[in-house]
Amino acid sequence: MTEPRRATVLGATGSIGRSTLDILRRAEPRPRVAALTGMGNVAGLAAAAREFRAELAVTADPARYLELKAALAGTGTEVAAGPEAVVEAARRPADWTMAAIVGAAGLAPTLAAAEQGGVIALANKECLVSAGELFLAEIARAGATLLPVDSEHNAIFQALDRDNRAALDRILLTASGGPFRAWSRERMARATPEEAVAHPNWDMGAKISIDSATMFNKALEMIEAKHLFDVRPEQVEVVVHPQSVVHSMVGYADGSVIAQMGTPDMRHAIGFAWNWPARRALPVERLDFARLARLDFEAPDEGRFPALRLAREVMAAGGLAGAAFNGAKEAALEAFMARRIGFLDMAAAVEATLARLAPFAPAERLADVFALDAEARATAEALIASGEVGKGAVLA
Ligand SMILES: NC(=O)c1ccc[n+]([C@@H]2O[C@H](COP(=O)([O-])OP(=O)(O)OC[C@H]3O[C@@H](n4cnc5c(N)ncnc54)[C@H](OP(=O)(O)O)[C@@H]3O)[C@@H](O)[C@H]2O)c1
Repeated sequence: MTEPRRATVLGATGSIGRSTLDILRRAEPRPRVAALTGMGNVAGLAAAAREFRAELAVTADPARYLELKAALAGTGTEVAAGPEAVVEAARRPADWTMAAIVGAAGLAPTLAAAEQGGVIALANKECLVSAGELFLAEIARAGATLLPVDSEHNAIFQALDRDNRAALDRILLTASGGPFRAWSRERMARATPEEAVAHPNWDMGAKISIDSATMFNKALEMIEAKHLFDVRPEQVEVVVHPQSVVHSMVGYADGSVIAQMGTPDMRHAIGFAWNWPARRALPVERLDFARLARLDFEAPDEGRFPALRLAREVMAAGGLAGAAFNGAKEAALEAFMARRIGFLDMAAAVEATLARLAPFAPAERLADVFALDAEARATAEALIASGEVGKGAVLA
């Protein structure tokens, strides 16, 4: 009998984390769980740690340490708290790590996990957007295996013809278009966080759901795809596909387009990464084409979704532009969630921040990435606080 693998789930209490635990729950043999991490959902983290008999459970919030410790009293699970403890948890020996912390906060723990040279199932897209080549260089140096879990990049990974790499012509990222796909700009200007969070097809965390509504999520994915698949910016295209059945496509020099399809369930991509390089049965619904009847495609409207244009500008600028883009986007997102700015102001804040911080130096050290991320957050926040962005758009 094969030894059970050791797994760690960073961001175990989130949408991807919970789906990952569902895949691990059904795995044979059942994996050993080295570490589980979360932040505010201490009860969820403790329940998962108990169920999986995790060796270590960590909340990123130092103020929640005693609560987590009490919840896991008598279980034998070690407990720790704070951002440093999350990085230490990622360093615990594991064969397979799910990187599913949301935002740039996932960068340091994911890099720490990669140091072990195991499999990194990468759901967090901000690692590649912010740190790009530096992140990939660290992965290569450590000899880790990076498997994309973002459904689009997982689809491309599956559709890639590795024997004919030079014949790759373009990458077609599909986008659902989010909840405001058919809304006018005027209506979008009045959109509330509750409306933005209600994604039509996918059940995701609040931040990525709002990023889908602005299409910043697709913008991040464009930059992620450029780095992951080493293509030129103009080879990355976006096509709106409201049913989210075609998860993405690869176009080749001979005109062929290979698509990967499935129901919109992240356990496809997570299970693929868990079973890779094998393919095994997964607890997901099968596609019923007769019931589906049709698949629709349309061009994205960059007038209403400027994030896509900004992504192309960021890819063209290169260097630390990605770190600034993501940092500004996260600050703008927080401000929108706190109802301090309107929906369309998020893109305005990111664009204004990029204009302030350009030109962008090449990214030479990870410290540069963290520094520019912080500078971009502070710049976006100052633009918002001064009313230069979002003036008069504060929501009731
Ligand atoms: N959801 C999807 O379908 C999907 C698809 C593709 C890619 N992704 C990417 O996967 C990542 C996770 O997405 P999600 O939807 O699962 O997000 P989510 O539901 O918001 O979960 C985020 C996880 O990160 C933890 N967390 C939040 N802030 C943290 C911090 N500062 N330090 C450490 N941990 C922190 C959360 O803990 P608490 O919940 O305990 O506070 C939770 O475990 C994102 O990068 C997203 O873009 C998601």
